[in-house]
Amino acid sequence: MKLASGHEAAILEGEERERMNKDWEGFFKGLVRLTPGRWLLPAPYLNFGDKYYSFQFKPSDVVVMTYSKSGTTWMQEIVWTMRNNPNLDHPMTNTHIFARSPFLEFDMITACSETPPPLDHPMVQAFFKMCPGKSPLDGAQLQMAEVLPEPRTIKSHLPFSLLTPELLDTAKVVGVIRNPKDVIVSFHHHCRLIAGQKYVGTFEDFVTYFVEDDLIYGPYWLYLKEMWEKREHPNLLIVFYEDLKADVMKELKRLNEFMGTGLTEAQLGNVQRHTSFGEMKAREKTLIGEDLFNQDVFKKDGGFFRKGQSGDWKGKLTPELEAKVDHYVQQKLSDLGIPFKFS
Ligand code: PPS
Repeated sequence: MKLASGHEAAILEGEERERMNKDWEGFFKGLVRLTPGRWLLPAPYLNFGDKYYSFQFKPSDVVVMTYSKSGTTWMQEIVWTMRNNPNLDHPMTNTHIFARSPFLEFDMITACSETPPPLDHPMVQAFFKMCPGKSPLDGAQLQMAEVLPEPRTIKSHLPFSLLTPELLDTAKVVGVIRNPKDVIVSFHHHCRLIAGQKYVGTFEDFVTYFVEDDLIYGPYWLYLKEMWEKREHPNLLIVFYEDLKADVMKELKRLNEFMGTGLTEAQLGNVQRHTSFGEMKAREKTLIGEDLFNQDVFKKDGGFFRKGQSGDWKGKLTPELEAKVDHYVQQKLSDLGIPFKFS
């Protein structure tokens, strides 16, 4: 099947599919591989992919783009708060994040689950309010993103090549990069936690999935390459997760300048506090909800806001697994010169 982006899409079959079926109990609708790039996505991407590719961005948009588990939600809350809520008095301060800042391709993720989000889900309620007469099955987040009043803050994990080529010449993009070792540890938890994925394999095999570019939204290296090569574009600001952790105020000031928000020190202080790990974790039930989680993993190992640290991989990757990831970085990413920060 040919997509508007020019990619050829093929449903994963044969041995590859069998291996995935064994380790991922949630992907019962299957997976799709796009060529070129070997992008791997849940099969429901095929229902929406052309719409994502032709999504019309506006000059006032800020798009938060990252590979999965790189701090997207943190940056999304920072950007939304800086632009809409620097005094922390917005009526939607304590609402589900996707009710005010859509996740462009979230519909392909929810479509993986056996049941769609319930009608009383705050995101679905917001959809009915914003898109009267429309069906959420046609893409609740997608349609919300279309009608959301400006200025829109939109989250996406899709790579540049699966979004309109005009994106950077139209809107501002904030890209977040996180070192691959912490991404792996965080993604492993996430894939066990999310019911629509339900990873049941070992951690060792998960690392293999990563280095063989067999995790959704990957290849990680290609995602970063596409972004890093555009780093000089005036509409792209790249932030490292580890820099945010080390000195968040410094990065907030870069964002303030990039987005032209003109916030005062006091307002930036509000943003810093409101988006701290502790405060966001305390708001988890409202901000993210728990309904898409595997409840056993959630109870045992925690929810979306897991640790929020840099260097947490150190206790988790054995020397053999670390060598595997180092080899991957060396082979696939060393020519780009991305200054990864591993602690
Ligand atoms: S997702 O599901 O792919 O969109 O996840 P994403 O938001 O990109 O990344 C989730 C990780 O970011 C951590 N996080 C934070 N760290 C520090 N401060 C704040 N405020 C914050 N908010 C989210 C989150 O805990 C995940 O990382 P881990 O290492 O798993 O804790």
